[in-house]
Amino acid sequence: MIFHQFFEVESSTYTYLLASEQTREAVLIDPVASEIDIYTQYLEMHNLTLVYSLDTHVHADHVTAANLLRDKFGCKTVLHRNSGVNCGDIFITDQSVIRIGEINIEARYTPGHTNACTSYVAEGMVFTGDALLIDGCGRTDFQEGNAEILYDSIHTQIFTLPDETIVYPGHDYKGRLVSTVGHERLHNSRLGAGKSKAEFVEIMNNLNLPYPKKIDIALPANKACGQ
Ligand SMILES: [Fe+2]
Repeated sequence: MIFHQFFEVESSTYTYLLASEQTREAVLIDPVASEIDIYTQYLEMHNLTLVYSLDTHVHADHVTAANLLRDKFGCKTVLHRNSGVNCGDIFITDQSVIRIGEINIEARYTPGHTNACTSYVAEGMVFTGDALLIDGCGRTDFQEGNAEILYDSIHTQIFTLPDETIVYPGHDYKGRLVSTVGHERLHNSRLGAGKSKAEFVEIMNNLNLPYPKKIDIALPANKACGQ
């Protein structure tokens, strides 16, 4: 398998590329519109064909590259069916599988940050979008956020994966690249060490986060696949 983690500085977004060494087919998870030249360069350098562009949810902090990539490469855009986005090509649900060559990418529905949040599991890795972050989680105070639902999603869909599963989040604001399910289950300061749902909800209700800077631009753009 070919794997690469990209970082977009302005919104601290991670984008992931997975590709089959045999068929040279590739997917991008959470691509950012401003970075399309970097993805193009990488795909060309490694002789890869982009077949799918996956968004873990409708982002409020950056504009997806889904449309640009579809125009450029003819790839299919993939989103959860609850996203409220009608410009996608494939609408997935829990346990949908996307296949590239020998790689199976399994969708796990993890709502709570938004009601379309999906984590993707492949090859001992989980791409958690904004559901589970390293030592944190996505906020639950806008879009269709709900702390109780997020708690259940993380516990039933992510913490049930093997301890050694590598966690690749949608963002990190402190330069951390990677974690594991076992580490987050033990040490995540909002959810780790067996924190109860009530404790988690209390934490989430008292974060007092600022209004997201780009939400008024990013949300309408992303509902149109980034156009
Ligand atoms: Fe988000």
